[in-house]
Amino acid sequence: MHEVSDARDQAAGLRRSLARRPVKVIAVTGGKGGIGKTNVSANLGIALARRGQRVLLLDADLGLANLDVLLGLRATDNLSHVLDGTRTLDEIVVTGPADVAIIPGASGLRRLLTLEPRQHAGLVNAFSELARDVDVLLIDTAAGLGDAVLGFCHAAQRVMVVVCDEPPAITDAYALVKVLSREFGVRNFDLLANMTRTAGEGLRLHQKLVRVADRFLDVQLNYAGAIPFDEQLREAVRRQMAVSTAFPHSTAALAFASLAERVAAWNPPEHPRGHIEFFMERLLGASTSGRKLQ
Ligand SMILES: Nc1ncnc2c1ncn2[C@@H]1O[C@H](COP(=O)(O)OP(=O)(O)OP(=O)(O)O)[C@@H](O)[C@H]1O
Ligand SMILES: [Mg+2]
Repeated sequence: MHEVSDARDQAAGLRRSLARRPVKVIAVTGGKGGIGKTNVSANLGIALARRGQRVLLLDADLGLANLDVLLGLRATDNLSHVLDGTRTLDEIVVTGPADVAIIPGASGLRRLLTLEPRQHAGLVNAFSELARDVDVLLIDTAAGLGDAVLGFCHAAQRVMVVVCDEPPAITDAYALVKVLSREFGVRNFDLLANMTRTAGEGLRLHQKLVRVADRFLDVQLNYAGAIPFDEQLREAVRRQMAVSTAFPHSTAALAFASLAERVAAWNPPEHPRGHIEFFMERLLGASTSGRKLQ
């Protein structure tokens, strides 16, 4: 019985996906904790939304500094309630600045990777319904190299690696790129330098990583740009606001606006990689290894 209805669900989902244009799925990651992944996800998302893109942010970080808190919002429910069947995906979404839609992940994320196959179809369909009117899905991943992080990066269309010019951040970014390329076959990465202190720092950091990656890995590291260190971003975090809302003319806000301009120009994904169903199937399919989730 289940198999029959699952097959029907999947067929219906597939028909819907064929009728739609693709969604850019970007995982924001970096390996090291505290280098600005959540701030980049939120501020890039808002900047894209201000450019007229419809943005969905998936909070895939189990840490304390969650997206909703960062933006002064309070999410009461999360993906685990959807998996329990007590809420629909629509009901857990919170709306942030510039109408970005945020999906709180929380404890639901761990379970996402250990679902029974028959639970997959329902979730894939729920996501595809929600993503019907979405141009960009941004995923704020946790620090580290846990299963959830690797799973989201593997499933995404693009992987944005946030890094700053400090040895531990560089080492962690490199380790992440290495694991994703060697174990998951991810070949393309978009490097974003954060908290840069000078104009040339981002490019130099990029060159540094390219030199090492070229010697030891088979990857392409694109330069996505730099976000300067900005005290006003810190103040915005304290106020639980996006920096572009609190300080629209700050250097960080302007850098996010120009990053959004470049990201908006990234080619839309090719079918079928760009469909949200494809992303979900890859994500849920990558749930078999025994690594500890982070
Ligand atoms: N461009 C910047 N300029 C100044 N401070 C920054 C910048 N980006 C991030 N920060 C500071 O770094 C802190 C950590 O940022 P954020 O929470 O986004 O990092 P994270 O990588 O998501 O951390 P975690 O790994 O814990 O999820 C912020 O609260 C902010 O104070
Ligand atoms: Mg974070």
